[in-house]
Amino acid sequence: TAAFLAVTAGGALAEGETVGFSQIGSESGWRAAETTLTRQQAEERGIQLQFSDAQQKQENQIAAIRSFVAQGVDAILLAPVVATGWDSVLQEAKEAEIPVVLLDRQVDSSEDLYLTAVGSNLVHEGEVAGEWLANEVGDRECRIVELQGTTGSSPAIDRKTGFENAIKDHPNLTIVRSQTGDFTRALGKEVMESFLQAENGGKDICALYAHNDDMAVGAIQAIKEAGLKPGEDILVVSIDAVPDIFKAMADGEANATVELTPNMAGPAFDALAAYWADGTMPPKFIQTESKLFTQADDPAGEYERRKGLGY
Ligand code: AHR
Repeated sequence: TAAFLAVTAGGALAEGETVGFSQIGSESGWRAAETTLTRQQAEERGIQLQFSDAQQKQENQIAAIRSFVAQGVDAILLAPVVATGWDSVLQEAKEAEIPVVLLDRQVDSSEDLYLTAVGSNLVHEGEVAGEWLANEVGDRECRIVELQGTTGSSPAIDRKTGFENAIKDHPNLTIVRSQTGDFTRALGKEVMESFLQAENGGKDICALYAHNDDMAVGAIQAIKEAGLKPGEDILVVSIDAVPDIFKAMADGEANATVELTPNMAGPAFDALAAYWADGTMPPKFIQTESKLFTQADDPAGEYERRKGLGY
C-alpha cells in the first residue's frame, strides 16, 4: 500500500516490493561484486531480495524462477548462465504477470518474454580489446591464444565475435589456440599451461586474450611459472576491470582491460520502480559503459579505488 512506498534514489517508488534474483554462481570476482551490489541496491531501496545461487547450472536457475513465480514475487532478476533454453520458464513468468529483468547476459528468447535487459554491448567489448591489441602490435607477427568464457554464454559468444571483428583486417594477428576456461581463475591457469606447452614453452605466443580478468590472472601465474614475463613476453588483454587485474597492470604483468560495471542492479531497480509506479515501459536494452584501461591509466590508483566498490 501507499504507506509502504518511499521515494528511492532513482526518484521512483519501490519500497516493500519482493524481487527474486537468480544468480549464476560465484565463478569470478566480477560475479561476486555483482551479487554484493545487488544486495546493497535492494537494501537501499527497501526491496526484499530473495537470492538464489544456481552454482553455474541452468536447471537450478529454472527451478529458482519457478519457485519465485509460485511465491508470487513482484519481479525477477535473471543473470542467465547460457543464452538458450529459457522460452518455457520465461513464458510461465509472463503468464503470472511477473516482470523479468535480465542482468549482464543475454538470452536468445523473444523480447516480449522479458521487461528489459541491463548489460554492456558484449560484442563491442571484444572489439575494444582486439583494437587495443592490433594497435599495440602494429605490423609485428602476433600469435594469439584465447581463453573463452563459459561455453554457450552470451559473453563468450559475443566477446569472441567482437575480437575477431577487430583483428580480421590485420593478417599479422592470428588466434592460434582458443579454449574455454569457464570464466574461472583455476581453469584459466590450467588451460594456459596447456597453451604454453603446445607453443614452444610459450615462446611462440605473442598475446593472450581472455574473456575475463579472472582467467587472465590465472594465466599470468602460469606464464610466470613457465619462466616468461606476462605483460612483456606475452601481452595480456582481458575484460571486467576487477581490482586484481589493476594490481597486475601496476606490476607490469597485464596490459589492458575493458570495464564491465558490476552495478547492473541499480538501473534494473530504477526501471522496475518506474514500471511498478505507473506502468512505464523501459527500453528493451539498458546499456552500460565499456571503457578501456591500460597501464597508462593509474592502475595502482584504480586498484585502491575499486576495492571499496563491492569487490
Ligand atoms: O556475464 C559477465 C561475465 O560473467 C563476466 O565478465 C565474468 O567475469 C563473469 O563470470
